[in-house]
Amino acid sequence: MDWGMKNRLAQLIQADGRCLFLPVDHGYFQGPVRKLEDPRKTLEPLLPYTDAIFITRGVLRSCVDPDKTKPIILRVSGGASVEGKDLAHEGITTSMEEAIRLNACAVGISIFVGTDYEHDSLLNLARLVDEGERYGMPVMAVTAVGRELEKRDERYLALSCRIAAELGARVVKTYYCEQFEKVTSGCPVPVVIAGGPKVPTGYEVLKFVYDGIRKGAIGVNLGRNIWQDEHPVAMIRGIRAIVHENATADQAQKLYDSVKGGKA
Ligand code: 5RP
Repeated sequence: MDWGMKNRLAQLIQADGRCLFLPVDHGYFQGPVRKLEDPRKTLEPLLPYTDAIFITRGVLRSCVDPDKTKPIILRVSGGASVEGKDLAHEGITTSMEEAIRLNACAVGISIFVGTDYEHDSLLNLARLVDEGERYGMPVMAVTAVGRELEKRDERYLALSCRIAAELGARVVKTYYCEQFEKVTSGCPVPVVIAGGPKVPTGYEVLKFVYDGIRKGAIGVNLGRNIWQDEHPVAMIRGIRAIVHENATADQAQKLYDSVKGGKA
């Protein structure tokens, strides 16, 4: 692996082999989602506790100060919206040149296995990997399900993750599911856990993050379940304790409660 690729990956995946990525890219197809109406306001208190942010170039330029940031994973796929016919109909929206100009540490692209746009999204990933490898830029593949949240089972996710790895993704982001170990064991590159829509309680999030790490994920790429929580700083600190300090879900919940109560 060349120096640039190694250096970028080292900025994302910490010395303990783990990572906490914070995605705030949702507006690229969902518009101003709840609690991300003003990305700067959402991001600023969380920045000290994240290892990297997953973001589009537009929000990066308008809402993140270049002298007060964390490593950037640049979202480079898009072109569909929640109002359109098919969320899977994405293309590449941002060039490799732009990613380099923005000093990104990786680029991120969604793939849509099993949809009408499977072929296009997989070839987009393959082309992005070709370019990324040329410039030392890691590609993170996102195994997206669009509106079909019920697809998130171990068979489908293991299939999608493996395909992403086969096409050259350096990191794969996927959902947690029952028998998550089948997803990680079939994927030869690091897997990070995405959150999906907000789940009813924070404790459930801490539990699936703990379980996902135990079953082979190297970290998380978790958005709504952090910044839509009533106490986002408490939540990210709880998750950080699981990811980087091997805390259990119960220990992370205790930390959450003390941060929320102003005691930590
Ligand atoms: C959208 C994305 C988001 O980054 C992803 O959904 C992660 O955020 P969340 O934890 O809120 O699901 O890739 O396709």
